Amino acid sequence: MTRRSVIRGTGHYLPEHVIENSWFEGRLDTTDEWIRSRTGIERRHFAAEGQTTSDLAIRAARVALDRAGMTAGDIDGIVLATSTPDFTFPAVATMVQAGLGMRRGFAFDVQAVCAGFVFALANADGMIRSGQADRVLVIGAETFSRIMDWTDRGTCVLFGDGAGAVVVEAQDGAGTSDDRGILSSDLNSDGTYRELLYVDGGVSATGTTGQLRMQGNLVFRHAVEKLAKTAHTALDKAGLTGADVDWLVPHQANMRIITATAHKMGLPMEKVVLTVADHGNTSAASIPLALSVADSQGRFQPGQLLVTEAIGGGLSWGSVVLRW
Ligand code: UT7
Repeated sequence: MTRRSVIRGTGHYLPEHVIENSWFEGRLDTTDEWIRSRTGIERRHFAAEGQTTSDLAIRAARVALDRAGMTAGDIDGIVLATSTPDFTFPAVATMVQAGLGMRRGFAFDVQAVCAGFVFALANADGMIRSGQADRVLVIGAETFSRIMDWTDRGTCVLFGDGAGAVVVEAQDGAGTSDDRGILSSDLNSDGTYRELLYVDGGVSATGTTGQLRMQGNLVFRHAVEKLAKTAHTALDKAGLTGADVDWLVPHQANMRIITATAHKMGLPMEKVVLTVADHGNTSAASIPLALSVADSQGRFQPGQLLVTEAIGGGLSWGSVVLRW
């Protein structure tokens, strides 16, 4: 017998305020056509003034709990991925815990930027498999609109705000790749690539919040190279190949990166969940948002094999393979 972490419910929340590409045209030297053709992004959501990452996360978590048929009292812990916390501390996860009315269990944040949800999910799986917890709420939530340089057309058109959540629960499996739940994961970081994607402020270095800086074309090259590789590594650990994959649920940064990764994995685009056009890049929220959107549309069937993959600042990148 092998303890597995099975997704019982998904949920998401997107702020009401929708920003079309055309909004940037009057403000920057850019066009809807450039943004669409170079990224696949058509619109994104921005949090309202005063609306914080924990507000978005709480709303997504409530939906996930509801769809799982659980209440906050059933949950043993919260692992929340974000790079845009409400405050330096406490962890956003503890604010979500309080917001949900939970008075027991653990709650902590994971910081791996756009790869954050993959890292959080793999951590939650480790805690479930080691017996630390039976039910964990795993959340990705971001308000990247708060760290944009609105004069930098190379970054501010790319990102959006939102939150996604999943409830994972322990279930015994036979220990084979036919089991439901998380089958394998692959996590990587290489801090020597810091200059490619970072925020130029922070508590200890500058005492400011800072703004996002990116050498987009270099990150693009790493993404195309590393994403298919990490997905293959995770599949290999589970004794599976690209041919076994029913759904690729990728980090939604750029349509051209997603297409290249699917191609390298030998997957037709019908097997790829796409939300980048409507959400933009929501960093750690992008995969749980995509999972929840596709789940709410009834696209995943029990027994189907899903692969998630993401790369972001650090650089950090990774993949999780799971059976629905
Ligand atoms: O989620 C974390 C990981 N992040 C990513 O995965 C992002 C990866 N990178 C990308 O998605 C792409 O590199 C971008 C979308 C950021 C940029 O696309 P690109 O095809 O790599 O363009 P580039 O950076 O090489 O720039 C090409 C040209 C430049 O002009 P010149 O120097 O050729 O005259 C840029 O200044 O496009 C220009 N450009 C723009 N033009 C109009 C950059 N941004 C814009 C813009 N509108 N918004």
